[in-house]
Parts: sequence; structure tokens; C-alpha cells
Amino acid sequence: MNTSYYAWLQHEPIEEASLRDAWRSLIGTVWLEEPVTAVLDTALREWEALCRDLLDFKGSHAEREPEGLHLRIRIYPEVLNFEGFRLRHLRTGERDVLELAGGSETGILYGIYHLRRLISAGIRPEDIDLREEPKNRLRMINQWDNADGTVERGYAGRSIFYEKGRFAGRFGRIRDYARLLASVGINAISINNVNVHETETRFITEEGLPDVAKVADILRAYGIRLFLSVNFAAPLQIGGLPTADPLDEGVIRWWRETAETVYRHIPDFGGVLVKADSEHRPGPFAYGRDHADGANLLADALLPHGGLVIWRCFVYNCMQDWRDRSTDRARAAYDHFTPLDGRFRDNVLLQIKNGPMDFQVREPVSPLFGGLARTNQVLEFQIAQEYTGQQRHVCFLVPQWKEVLDFDSFACGPGSTVKEIVSGSLFGMKHSGIAAVSNIGMDENWTGHLLAQANLYGYGRLIWNPELTSEEIALEWCRLTFGSDEETVAAVCRILLKSWPIYESYTAPLGVGWMVTPHTHYGPDVDGYEYSRWGTYHFADRDGIGVDRTRATGTGYTAQYKRENADRYESLETCPDELLLFFHHVPYRHVLKSGKTVIQHIYDTHFKGAADAYRLCEEWAALEGRIDEERFRQIAGRLEEQAEHAEQWRDVINTYFYRKSGIADVEGRTIY
Ligand code: GCU
Repeated sequence: MNTSYYAWLQHEPIEEASLRDAWRSLIGTVWLEEPVTAVLDTALREWEALCRDLLDFKGSHAEREPEGLHLRIRIYPEVLNFEGFRLRHLRTGERDVLELAGGSETGILYGIYHLRRLISAGIRPEDIDLREEPKNRLRMINQWDNADGTVERGYAGRSIFYEKGRFAGRFGRIRDYARLLASVGINAISINNVNVHETETRFITEEGLPDVAKVADILRAYGIRLFLSVNFAAPLQIGGLPTADPLDEGVIRWWRETAETVYRHIPDFGGVLVKADSEHRPGPFAYGRDHADGANLLADALLPHGGLVIWRCFVYNCMQDWRDRSTDRARAAYDHFTPLDGRFRDNVLLQIKNGPMDFQVREPVSPLFGGLARTNQVLEFQIAQEYTGQQRHVCFLVPQWKEVLDFDSFACGPGSTVKEIVSGSLFGMKHSGIAAVSNIGMDENWTGHLLAQANLYGYGRLIWNPELTSEEIALEWCRLTFGSDEETVAAVCRILLKSWPIYESYTAPLGVGWMVTPHTHYGPDVDGYEYSRWGTYHFADRDGIGVDRTRATGTGYTAQYKRENADRYESLETCPDELLLFFHHVPYRHVLKSGKTVIQHIYDTHFKGAADAYRLCEEWAALEGRIDEERFRQIAGRLEEQAEHAEQWRDVINTYFYRKSGIADVEGRTIY
């Protein structure tokens, strides 16, 4: 196993001897007030690993509370939230201890991982007095893995879970993944693709469940609950019933019995994730029922067992006629789901993608956040870089996610931010949280591009505490991954923090989206989707570009926002530049707030973006010798590929718009 496999849990003792000694004497002996059960056992093993990896020391367990320095672990549910923890350096009488108190075993486990972060950051033991509680209850990962071993939109090799239609039995690898996830506070995972094919439809049967249960056992020891994506038509496809109608007695019974079977195998099964009536997946529409009927059917079956139904809102017409200008895909989720607000059972959560379209480099925030007030909600991000460079380009997404979380929906007046909605606090919801599509696979370094590890890490950290800044998260990750060499850490942080703006600058401009090669979604093809059925158009002609989504003259999408945002987006004067073409169709000579015309903005950003991508290679090259050879080369190779592809993007986009508009670049640079 090479270094990149350990990701942010590196085996690298801290260099400063006095600091190492101080930590060794304080936490080198552990004393536990509690009987050791599964998650606590994991926590103890993580404490051993911490001593070994960071302090180069073999820790010892005490039978009784020692007189001298030690790490004291106790569960303290009275004062701490279930998954929270408190770390304090206490001096009581002759005892000098670091006390780790957790609201539960899982809280303790999170506390150990946090300790690992603190030690890596060079914190001195005397200074410790902190308390942490996760902002979001559900902190979830969605695998888009298929039983045949492929990963939908996977850019880091094949599935770690499956091969050739079966569970692959890679328990060590799954355990290592669980460890990475738990170390950043993830507590739930769905292990199969939302597009549920034939084999995966059978995961919920007697024949499939023993294998699923083995995975659940591994995850449980890390405080992670297992979910499955299910096929809404399962009663029909594997149950021998003539229908999957959610109001049919036989169907209701079938799901109830299926839930009983599942919970016999996996008593703490988290629940199901459902993509229904979306991109050709079956759903309640076939029977003249709506999404509430569909979701409530499953919710009733799971309720006696404490299971959740996570129902996706990614529902739109994917068979649109491009000639039809009245249909707007961006409107779809809101139009489908707001009329159902209040009709879902208590154990249903609606999972809403961050934007109204589909994980583009730039989109506005989905107006469903704020549009739904009586429904449990989960925000969905995509860590996998489907439209953001596919883990061949570096694109650190934490700053993008922060913009989403900080967005003010104005649903209950100013301050009604997305993070307050999805944490459940704004509307006082029972269940809520955040989920994201994973970016890992069988690649030795997990994520293809090593720098893409920062997105998985950053996702977990950010949804635990949305107040962390992008800079703080990047810095943590860099230190944990590359060690304490300040020059390296600073350089890697700089690269991460500018990577999203760079990627945006040489790809689709001003929020218009797509312009990618159909199906693969990699590389530029400006008209690739322009005459397709997918509802993702830019409407460029010789005069201008963009989608008119205004109330006044367009599709009326802006009206889905509360007044403050609706007005801001509606008006050309107040619509932010970076989203201009998402909301408006404008002439190429329209002047942006930056003072540039749209066409000149396109040329300038594309020339600059490609040059910046090239410069990343140079910045990286300066780190040669400071990072181990293997990781150095891996990243160098990816950055070179990015620089080359950025040129391709630059030339294709610039040439396209030059030929369409006939307007020359004021700087006279080469356009073909
Ligand atoms: C995107 C992606 C699909 C995926 C879908 C979804 O459209 O390209 O592969 O299935 O999102 O989120 O369901």
C-alpha cells in the first residue's frame, strides 16, 4: 500500500520532539470508564493508531484510573448531543488528564479523530478545551455503484463493493473506506446506485440480504448506518405482483413484508433512497399517483422499524422537444414538489440537488429550499466531479458548497439560509441533513486525482460544521495529507482555493452550463446538447446567448424564489454577473457589472483560465523534492493533462462564439 492510500490518515510522526513527548505522556495511557462495545472498540483502535502514526509510540490501556497523566474516556449523554464530544485538559488534584467525553460511543470515536486533527495541526496539549456537535443530523454519502462493478459517473476506477454482479467481498477495503468516512463524521451511506438495475433490485430479498448485512456490520463499527437504493417497481419486477401501484393492497403488503425481512437481517438498517419517475426510472406516475403516495407507501412499511425514506426531487421531463420554449427543466423540481408540501409522512425526507439543474460548475440554489416549509429535507451535493473536471482537473468544491449553504432563501425573512433549512432548525423538522455522491473507487489513491481527496474530506468537515471556512478546511486537509512543511502546505492550499474559479473560467460561461460532450460529459462540445431532449440549452445565435427565465418575458422560473431573490434575478441591473446567462438572454455586447461586454468576458476568461491552468503545473513543479515522488508525480501528471484540456476548452469556446457573433477580441489574440 502506498502513501496516497492513507489519504488524510497518514502514518507520519510529528517532527518536533518536545511536542511529541508532551502528547505521548498525556495520552499514551488510556483509561475507559465504560464497558467496551463495538464502536468504542473502534475508538480504542483509532487511539492506538493515532499513538503509532503520529507519536511513534505504543499506547497502553490502564485497568484502573491511573494517578498520573492519561487520556480518560467517558460517555456523558446528559450534557452532550448524541454524536457530540468534549475534549478538555483537566488538572484536578494530583491527576493531570485529557478527558474525552462523548454523548455516545460514536461521539467518542469522533473525538479521537478530532484529536488526531489537533495533533497534526501542531496544537499543544495544554491548550485543549473544546466541545463539538454536528450541525446536521444526517451526514450521508451516496454511492452510485452498480452490481456489475461499474460506477455511474465514477472517475476513480471500479466499485470497491461489487464485481461481476456480486458483492466483491473486499471487506478490508470497505473497512478502510468506513474509517475515512467516520474520521470526517459521516454517519450514513447508501451503497448502490440510485438507478437500480435488475441485480440490485434483489438486494432486499432473502438471497441478497446476507451480503448486504456483512457490509452493514463493518459500517456499524464506525457509527455508519447502511441504506439501499430501491426500485419502485420491485413488487412487479421481483415480487410476482401484477402492479407496483402504491395504493394497491397487495403492493402495500409486499413492501411491509419486505421491510420485515430487511430488518431481520439488518436491525439498524437506515432506510431507502428512491429515484422515481426520473430519467426513465419507474415511479407512482404510471398509476396516476403522485410522489407523496409513492413515498408514503415505503414510509409506512419502514416506520415500525425506525427506517427513513429518502425520496429524490430530481424529477423532470428528459424527453423534451428542444423546439418547445415553454418548458423549462429548471422549474421542474419546484413545480412537482411544492404542491405536495405537508403531505409526506414524518419519516420521509425529500432529497434536493443543490441547484435546479444538475451539478454544474455554476447554478443558482434550488428554489425548493425555502419553497418547502412542512417537509423534511436533505440537500444533495456531488463530490464526484461529473461536470467539474471528472477528477482529471483539480476543482476544490468546498467554496461552491459554502455558497449554497450560506444562500439566504428569505423563507422566514432575512437569515433563512440553506444551512438553517437543512439542519432542520428553520422549520423545526424532525429529520434533515446533507447527502453527496461519492467520488471514490478502486484506484489506489481512492479518488483518481489525489487532490480530489480534499473534496471528500472537505465535504465531511463542512457538513459537520458549516461555519468552517474553505481556507480552514483546505489547510487541515493539506497538513494531514502532506505533513508539516509549511511551504508545501501553503502552496497546495493556494492551488485548491483557486481551482474552482479557474475551472469555471475556461468552461461554460456566466452560469449557462453544459457545453460538454454528450453522455461522457467530459470536454467541450458547445452544441452537444442544444438540439437534444435533455432540456439543457444555451440558445446562442448570432446576436446573443442565454436562457430567459424571467417572469416578464421568459419561463417564469425567477418567480419560484421569494421576493427578494426573485426581484434580484429578474432584473438585468441586479442579477449577479456569474449567473447572468442562467436567467437572461442578452446580446453579446451587453455590458456586465465588471464593465466588460459578454463576448469580451468570454474571450478574457477563457484565455486567462487556460493560462492559469498552465501556471498550476509550474506551481506544482516548484514542490519537487518536498513531497514523496509517487504523490508528486501523480498530481503533476493530472495537472499537465488539465492544462492541455483547458487549452482545448479555450479554443473551442472562443472559436464558437467568434464565429457565431463575428465580434473580434479587442486584444487580437488567436481565435480560430
Ligand atoms: C445526472 C447524471 C446521471 C444520474 C443523474 C441522477 O444526470 O448524469 O448519471 O443518474 O444525474 O442524479 O440521478
